[in-house]
Amino acid sequence: MRAALLGIDLGTSACKALLLSAEGQVLASASAAYSISQPRERWVEQDPAAWVAAARQAVASALQSAGAVQVLGIGLSGQMHGLTALDAQCRPLRDAILWNDQRNQAQAAQITEAAGGLPALLAQTGNRMLVGYTGGKLLWMQQHEPQHYARLRVALNPKDYLRYVLTGELATEVTDASGTGLFNVRERRWATEVIRAAGLDSSHFPACHESQVITGQVHAQAAALFGLAPGIAVIGGGGDSVIQSLGAGVVAPGALQTTIGTAGILAAALDRPLPSADGRIQLFCNVDPGRWHAMGVSLNAGGALAWFRSALQIGDTAPGFEDIIAAAAQSLPGARGLLFLPYLYGERCPHPDPSARAAFIGLSARHGFADLARSVLEGVVHSLYDMRSLMSAMGVASDWVSSSGGGARAALWRQIQADMLGCDVLTRQGAAEGAALGAALLAGVSLQVWPDIDHAAGLMPELTRERPDPARGALYREAHAIYQGLYATLAESFQQLGVIASTGEGA
Ligand code: XUL
Repeated sequence: MRAALLGIDLGTSACKALLLSAEGQVLASASAAYSISQPRERWVEQDPAAWVAAARQAVASALQSAGAVQVLGIGLSGQMHGLTALDAQCRPLRDAILWNDQRNQAQAAQITEAAGGLPALLAQTGNRMLVGYTGGKLLWMQQHEPQHYARLRVALNPKDYLRYVLTGELATEVTDASGTGLFNVRERRWATEVIRAAGLDSSHFPACHESQVITGQVHAQAAALFGLAPGIAVIGGGGDSVIQSLGAGVVAPGALQTTIGTAGILAAALDRPLPSADGRIQLFCNVDPGRWHAMGVSLNAGGALAWFRSALQIGDTAPGFEDIIAAAAQSLPGARGLLFLPYLYGERCPHPDPSARAAFIGLSARHGFADLARSVLEGVVHSLYDMRSLMSAMGVASDWVSSSGGGARAALWRQIQADMLGCDVLTRQGAAEGAALGAALLAGVSLQVWPDIDHAAGLMPELTRERPDPARGALYREAHAIYQGLYATLAESFQQLGVIASTGEGA
């Protein structure tokens, strides 16, 4: 029987399970989808029972297609910042409130104020209290759903709920804890002072470990539920946007990692916790105990393309993603003078503004489907470029980019990145598997299948490399100068349109 490591990634739209051999070969991967619910403007929720059902299905399919394997250990990963609120019996009190939910702007501001203002908060946690973070969600629950808050035993991130289902342990690890906004990232511990000042309760947070630590074993009941052997070690794992850097091979300073998943991420590994002046760049613990992780996260990347596709749907018919990419290739760099601001779900980085909205700017009667498609792809990369500028200001330099996520499968999207960012963009084998691969690799490090994280990060060979074209780069940077000014010009109108949109919804 072949030894394998199982990575489970509880994403925003699906749960993925991946089996990796001790030689670093992906033996099988499978995913099972679930839906999000948006009961009100700015609300985004999910039923934790749907995660468990999808995880069971994905694990069963992966095990089936891998054939006879002995699972040595499980690495968990998942969407970050979600609030999974459990009662005394560890049952969910309500649907989980997700990372891209934007309801708690007031509470995020209250926590910032309670901590002594933004500079004081940054000094205590390393991060701004972004609207998507768990801290503001908890305070929202305290204020708006006191009946739930009164019964709250523990607040878990999504993957840590799955850990509870698998092992019965209530635990998290440093990367996901960082994303609560209530964690002292420099000292790698809960920011109890901020929690107290905000009127929250430290006892609602689970024990926090380093990401490589074994946090428990699969118990008999879960083993039966998931078709796994009882006793398998479950390691800490990591939040998806941190742990996927491991699969992409970016765990040491010197390179950037971009992800075009539902969200768009530009990330770098740091060997010390460099401060981000205004907190727009998130500073998290890395899965390596001696490193940190800086990243900008846009709420709108692959999700923008998915929106574009669904906006074109008539009845049951919508163009495929490949059709949209192929059409975009027929347009020209710069989409014939058309720009797309991708802020469909509000935005986080570079503009922490839940009221931000998307826009096509510069439409003329000459523009058709191909130009619209191209401007959506380019708009997402303009946003990554904005984040790179913020990183450069922090002193993070890099010569190359490793790209991952579903969007990295499209050669055109990778080429746009190479041209705009002005450096080589490569992909590594397995990187399209995203965080599930990182989770399996980390499990292997934890169980000493591989000596350390650097070794694990180098296991995946290079798959593709796009080189920058200087002429296209110059054109894109000219377009970027215009793009960059548009948000400030439109921010107030976005705000007013949001008021109109929420009228009558009680939001
Ligand atoms: C990271 C973030 C997203 C979610 C989505 O800060 O918000 O990457 O983790 O999966």
